Amino acid sequence: MRDAYIVTAVRTPGCRRGKGAFKDTRPEDLLSFILNAAIDRTPGLEKGQVDDVMIGCSFPEAEQGLNVGRIATQIAGFPDHVSGATVNRFCSSGLEAIAQSAMRVMSGWSEITIGGGLESMTYVPMGGNMARPHPEYTRERPDLYISMGMTAENVAKRYNVSRQDQDQFGYESQMKASKAKAEKLYTELVPTPATRFVLQKDGTYKKEAVLQDFDDGIRESTTLEGLAKLRPAFSPTGSVTAGNSSQTTDGAAVSILMSEQAVKDFGLKPIAKLKYYTTVGCRADEMGVGPRYAIPKLLKLAGMTIDDIGLWEINEAFASQALYCIRELGLVKYMDRINIHGGAIALGHPLGCTGAKLCATLLANMRTKGVKYGVESMCIGGGMGAAALFELCD
Ligand SMILES: CC(C)(COP(=O)(O)OP(=O)(O)OC[C@H]1O[C@@H](n2cnc3c(N)ncnc32)[C@H](O)[C@@H]1OP(=O)(O)O)[C@@H](O)C(=O)NCCC(=O)NCCS
Repeated sequence: MRDAYIVTAVRTPGCRRGKGAFKDTRPEDLLSFILNAAIDRTPGLEKGQVDDVMIGCSFPEAEQGLNVGRIATQIAGFPDHVSGATVNRFCSSGLEAIAQSAMRVMSGWSEITIGGGLESMTYVPMGGNMARPHPEYTRERPDLYISMGMTAENVAKRYNVSRQDQDQFGYESQMKASKAKAEKLYTELVPTPATRFVLQKDGTYKKEAVLQDFDDGIRESTTLEGLAKLRPAFSPTGSVTAGNSSQTTDGAAVSILMSEQAVKDFGLKPIAKLKYYTTVGCRADEMGVGPRYAIPKLLKLAGMTIDDIGLWEINEAFASQALYCIRELGLVKYMDRINIHGGAIALGHPLGCTGAKLCATLLANMRTKGVKYGVESMCIGGGMGAAALFELCD
């Protein structure tokens, strides 16, 4: 099989659902902007040379429905012959899209593809605008439809992850992100136009755009005392709060993938190869345990151990599940390799975008630090885990 090289990986900032900078920015605009930004950052590449654009989205309906992968590609000005698709594997959708795009290159079916992810949780809330669970099956298998917050409570209770430990984890996420923001370490982040509707003197509103250049969910002022005071968000007797959960967020991210021949033709220096990708199922009512199973499956495929991995991006859907997985995987000794610039508790988790967002962040950090192997992993609603291994190019 051929290799698939990632030559460009970029993301928009992540901004808070309903309250943040992208609350009035249509999802198609976020995605078409970041598609163009990726093309601009790939010297010599023209849009018409891309074979296909595949985009992950967790709730592909309403403003981000109707095959947003194709629509945003057209809005971005790609010519008609460049096809586009939308894929959904909930929280790993963006990574799934990158993996499927890589597999096209690896199989020889494409030379140049784009994989990415998108979610505007402002425009389409988690669960969708009109959820319609199966009326009888909800009684037999309510676990398939329970809130993600309750799955996090289940993990905390079943595996003894204390409130204190969850808050400590949330605090560290905020502190790492605050430092990275202050030191401008998010080199994968592209300042992105945010729509504003500005009141005019005549009472009408004018549509304007301002550049948003930071993740607006980061709370630099977070303290452990402040976190301890927060009420449980999902169960009155629980331990999962707004301070130790991922934030609901708007964002988009994409990667451009090429065959070895295409890389040579364009004279590019690729960032990394996508070596392996895997998914695995687990119990739906504790979906957060997903990475604990996906990561060993991935490492077995690669013939590697946790000691071979220099950097990890493990999605912080909730502190309870991230901590449980880290402990079970024996990764506690490598905390300084995990989510080094913070995770979704501070930076947000724009569901279908997250897999592509974490890929862009991981690759940027691998390049800056010269780390050969990096792993990205996340849990997935409905009870799954996904994981991918990237190898830095020399
Ligand atoms: C937990 C959740 C419900 C909180 O949503 P929210 O209420 O809109 O969150 P907010 O940011 O407004 O925070 C709520 C409160 O906590 C406080 N808070 C949040 N983070 C804090 C921090 N780090 N330090 C101190 N206070 C904090 C806020 O100030 C706010 O207080 P207020 O109500 O007095 O203003 C939401 O983030 C959520 O659903 N997260 C999980 C998403 C999910 O399931 N994703 C899929 C995973 S598989």
